[in-house]
Amino acid sequence: MNHVLEARDLTRYYDVSQGFFKGNATVKALNGVSFTLDAGKTLAVVGESGCGKSTLARQLTLIEPPTSGALLLEGTDAAKAGKSELQAMRTKVQMVFQNPYASLNPRQKIGDQLAEPLLINTRMSASERKDAVLSMMQRVGLRPEHYFRYPHMFSGGQRQRIAIARAMMLQPRIVVADEPTSALDVSIQAQVLNLFMDLQDEFNTAYLFISHNLAVVEHVADDVMVMYLGRAVEIGSKDTIYNRPLHPYTRALLSATPSIHPENRAIKIKIEGELPSPLNPPSGCAFHKRCPHAQERCTREEPQLRTVDAQRVACHRAEELRP
Ligand SMILES: Nc1ncnc2c1ncn2[C@@H]1O[C@H](COP(=O)(O)OP(=O)(O)O)[C@@H](O)[C@H]1O
Ligand SMILES: [Mg+2]
Repeated sequence: MNHVLEARDLTRYYDVSQGFFKGNATVKALNGVSFTLDAGKTLAVVGESGCGKSTLARQLTLIEPPTSGALLLEGTDAAKAGKSELQAMRTKVQMVFQNPYASLNPRQKIGDQLAEPLLINTRMSASERKDAVLSMMQRVGLRPEHYFRYPHMFSGGQRQRIAIARAMMLQPRIVVADEPTSALDVSIQAQVLNLFMDLQDEFNTAYLFISHNLAVVEHVADDVMVMYLGRAVEIGSKDTIYNRPLHPYTRALLSATPSIHPENRAIKIKIEGELPSPLNPPSGCAFHKRCPHAQERCTREEPQLRTVDAQRVACHRAEELRP
């Protein structure tokens, strides 16, 4: 089976000025990430702020090209696509952002905003577009009279429903959701997550779901990729990652999420110290300065992702430290 999306060793570097005397430096925001996405499945991407999640999202939605590596959408290499082919590929990947207010036009009625992707990308008539919009609005829990209202007239949860509806209008193959519930009240989060799940069942969409919150991810993920400083440090099925995490960083993240398996949380693993700067990443394993299990080897040799048990993990000591 062809994957809906395949990322091969994606990197994205940014040149940043360090000030007049120091000159420029390179931030390796994304530093060689590979994975596949399948129809109807959700890959959750987790990790602390600054580890490269949003940079990854921008690559997948073809907003900016990767520095190196390849992105294949339904088998087609984005780098080799012509201008019109790339335009068609872009409609197959849609994005939902953390703050729906920023992604909606404050001066345009909701109905018109939802119809816009159809106006640009299809030959539907005005009345066909309106029918499609009303049916999607109903699908995401909005009422027909909402068609004529403006974004400011809605609550945060409703606005995120509108943003999701807009992302779904062209029935994309992939939705990249970057912290889509992080700005919502806890009571609303579960409803929005359920909506994501229902729409996935209905349209068989593949999701790349970005979150720093492992309790949220537990509801939606099929697979989980844990990122640290621009790299994937552990990838596996949700059950494997949550029940038998191997990377010390994954374990620390899980132990900091009290709602997950509280019976196993007797031993707290603390993440010591600050997230290092991606401008000046540590030698060897990027996690070694914060890792309770680091040895001399970890300070000089960078661990590569490899298969251990049911997952892939980038830790020299994965076998030894296995529970
Ligand atoms: N346009 C940019 N220019 C320079 N640095 C950037 C840019 N975008 C992101 N970065 C840097 O890349 C790293 C990863 O950022 P980001 O992908 O936003 O992380 P996350 O979404 O996980 O919080 C950060 O150190 C950030 O400062
Ligand atoms: Mg981000």
